Amino acid sequence: MRIGILGTGVVGQTIGTKLVTLGHEVKMGSRAAGNAKAAGWVKAAARGASAGTFADAASFGEIMFNCTSGMASLDALRQAGPKNLDGKVLVDVANPLDFSKGMPPTLSVCNTDSLGEQIQRELPMARVVKSLNTVSAMVMVDPAIVPGDHAIYVCGNDTAAKAQVTDLLEKSFGWKTVIDLGDISAARATEMLLALWIRLMGTIKSPKFNFVVSRAP
Ligand SMILES: NC(=O)c1ccc[n+]([C@@H]2O[C@H](COP(=O)([O-])OP(=O)(O)OC[C@H]3O[C@@H](n4cnc5c(N)ncnc54)[C@H](OP(=O)(O)O)[C@@H]3O)[C@@H](O)[C@H]2O)c1
Repeated sequence: MRIGILGTGVVGQTIGTKLVTLGHEVKMGSRAAGNAKAAGWVKAAARGASAGTFADAASFGEIMFNCTSGMASLDALRQAGPKNLDGKVLVDVANPLDFSKGMPPTLSVCNTDSLGEQIQRELPMARVVKSLNTVSAMVMVDPAIVPGDHAIYVCGNDTAAKAQVTDLLEKSFGWKTVIDLGDISAARATEMLLALWIRLMGTIKSPKFNFVVSRAP
């Protein structure tokens, strides 16, 4: 499958590497062609990796991942070109973290709205599925590094898109428990989880963890 990744950071690189290792063709997009991080990733990754602008990646991908800085995601998606994303599944991994006032970051949107919803409103023809934003990059593609049965979430307005993403999470990334939280407004909940996630990382001094949902029978 042809997959487009918007973003050259650790998340884009980690997801991209996993996908080319599985035999997919992956194009990584950035603001400008010739981005050094993307070029380094192409060099290090398996066959099937390529790079270009956000628009190049968006026109290439049959399925897309938004791995851009949350504060810049709407700009990045405008650069990707809404027409290039029409009808496509867009997995939104970004968190709207605002580091402008130092640590810990705040959320630039929360409570009554979310980045996932902003993206779906900006791209009404795209099939946005929010997922993977509640774990660190290495856990996204290798959940077994954290012992036990821990969960990842999906939410979005398009049932078939969520089913496709769930299949990829289970069969390609190895997630055993994928919880469907409902429509895209559930992105408020998974993005606001970041306040706890960041505090926990500072306390337990590792990004290799996840939350467990444990329900009485
Ligand atoms: N790090 C993690 O483990 C983790 C876990 C869960 C979720 N997330 C979320 O995943 C996303 C990616 O995180 P990351 O750490 O891999 O990368 P990042 O540093 O947050 O974002 C890098 C990407 O954002 C783009 N970008 C930055 N400013 C921009 C602007 N003004 N306009 C357009 N694009 C801009 C960069 O474009 P260029 O390539 O052109 O420089 C780059 O591709 C973030 O939203 C983050 O909150 C991260």
